[in-house]
Amino acid sequence: MCGIVGILGTRAAAPLLVDSLKRLEYRGYDSAGVATLEDGRLARCRAEGKLKHLEDRLKATRLTGRTGIGHTRWATHGAPTESNAHPHATDRLALVHNGIIENYRELRGELEQCGAVFASDTDTEVIAHLIDLGLASGAAPKEAVEAALRRLRGAFAIAVLFGGDDELMIGARRGSPLAIGHGDGEMYLGSDAIALAPLTDQIAYLEDGDLAVLIRTGVDVFDADGRPVERPPTRATVTSLLVDKGNHRHFMLKEINEQPEVVGHTLAHYLDLTGGRCKPLDLGVDFARLDRLSITACGTAYYAGMVARYWFERFARLPIDIDIASEFRYREQPLAKKGLSLVISQSGETADTLASLRYAKAEGQQVAAVVNVEQSTIAREADMILPTLAGPEIGVASTKAFTCQLAVLACLAIAAGRARNVLPEAEEARLVAAFAEVPRLMSQVLRLEDGIEAIARDLGRAEHVLYLGRGTSYPIALEGALKLKEISYIHAEGYAAGELKHGPIALIDEAMPVVVIAPHDHVFEKTVSNVQEVAARDGRIILVSDEAGISAAGVNADRVVVPSMPAEITPLVYALPVQLLAYHTAVFMGTDVDQPRNLAKSVTVE
Ligand code: M6R
Repeated sequence: MCGIVGILGTRAAAPLLVDSLKRLEYRGYDSAGVATLEDGRLARCRAEGKLKHLEDRLKATRLTGRTGIGHTRWATHGAPTESNAHPHATDRLALVHNGIIENYRELRGELEQCGAVFASDTDTEVIAHLIDLGLASGAAPKEAVEAALRRLRGAFAIAVLFGGDDELMIGARRGSPLAIGHGDGEMYLGSDAIALAPLTDQIAYLEDGDLAVLIRTGVDVFDADGRPVERPPTRATVTSLLVDKGNHRHFMLKEINEQPEVVGHTLAHYLDLTGGRCKPLDLGVDFARLDRLSITACGTAYYAGMVARYWFERFARLPIDIDIASEFRYREQPLAKKGLSLVISQSGETADTLASLRYAKAEGQQVAAVVNVEQSTIAREADMILPTLAGPEIGVASTKAFTCQLAVLACLAIAAGRARNVLPEAEEARLVAAFAEVPRLMSQVLRLEDGIEAIARDLGRAEHVLYLGRGTSYPIALEGALKLKEISYIHAEGYAAGELKHGPIALIDEAMPVVVIAPHDHVFEKTVSNVQEVAARDGRIILVSDEAGISAAGVNADRVVVPSMPAEITPLVYALPVQLLAYHTAVFMGTDVDQPRNLAKSVTVE
């Protein structure tokens, strides 16, 4: 899962490629590279690590060609070294690839027997050698690429340059996204419209199986069966401005602080706040007819789905099946024809979630997508979109997208309750009024930052941390643990508080911090019993609750005192202290908060 870009331009391509790659760094930042063509001669520049290393290296390398390709990598096959960085090249071509070639071992063995010499440990290099073999035997570039692609199993989006031909670039996709940009006497190709935003807003998306032959003045596209097809460009609405951190030290902190505003926008989009009702949702779905709803997502988006299960079951009396997308896609779960599936994804590009969407559609279901990027593949393939209005989320650790997902899901659950005639109008009005308070309460919680930072300094000395919660606080415990481990690299686990006694309690000693998410709700007393079990074993408790909860708990604990609020809205508000706790722990540890090791913002491989 990498970012690729290609330019057939009228100016030096290298600086433009780097600018586009900056917009694709969310897809990976293990290494980066560009290749250009100048008077038919292929030249490459690659560097290990973040893009700034490539930029430094380019200062000393004169790449003046107007035709070029670029790549930012998230390592799958082969360590994140310079030799494994893209573009990969032979004497005849250079190539960038996003995806995974599953049968690369057998292809590599075969190619080596034919005399190919490999310079990397990547799966990608087999594509370069396969195309090279075709060119060596006299095939034209398009035929050589087509023949190579027929040999591949797996997912790919590629861009290929050919030595000796400054006027040609070939792109192709199967599984991974690829967009074509139309300029004025220039043509571009990229993993998404955001990458191409500084160059053009005229974007066409290739369909799965398409192959595109680009020259400086246009493009010919061929579908999976090799037939010429039209993929006309439309105007993309993404901004060409790179989002900046403003006055914040990290994107993550900026995004945490944006939550009152973006959650407010999202709620206002779905709720008639003055009328105390949900706005009519033009989804074409009759909730009254549904027997169940199936929810699929990954990571943080999955935890948003877990919270939503409680809401759908309570507000709408609608049974929910919820799955991690990477499990769902291979479970062969029978799905009711004309039923409804819901996928949740910030990026809209997550490979497992996309595969789940396709599985559900193939089973005859309608698919609704809660997405933040409306130009994404999931948004384009879903039958209906429920946008989250979080704005671009740059920090790899998801924060504002999560709470906006929760906002959308809460509104959908309320709407479903009304449609199923199980949620009285007065209850709808009470819930709408409660959710309308979320932005204000979030702002109050953000003012607790100094106290949370002090607790984080202590947490930063721990090797392991447990997070506990019950009911809708259980997914928040899972989310807190995920946030902490992904940006601070401290091992953390989230548990349903009631599960503590079934195993994890064995871990409790004076060195084990236990973060307890415990609003003073109907399961509070049960959670407090679990807190007492931790206290009795000298565990270090960090209690996140309201005044009533803190005084009722009666244990020695570090406290984060959150305002009191109706139980239904606590997941949105309690998400903020766990985000801040993870953030300040990571800052204290000195890790790369916005681009933590081994991760990428968008996970486009299995
Ligand atoms: O773009 P998506 O919402 O589909 O991404 C799903 C997960 O990869 C994502 O939430 C991941 O877990 C985040 N790094 C969590 O902070």
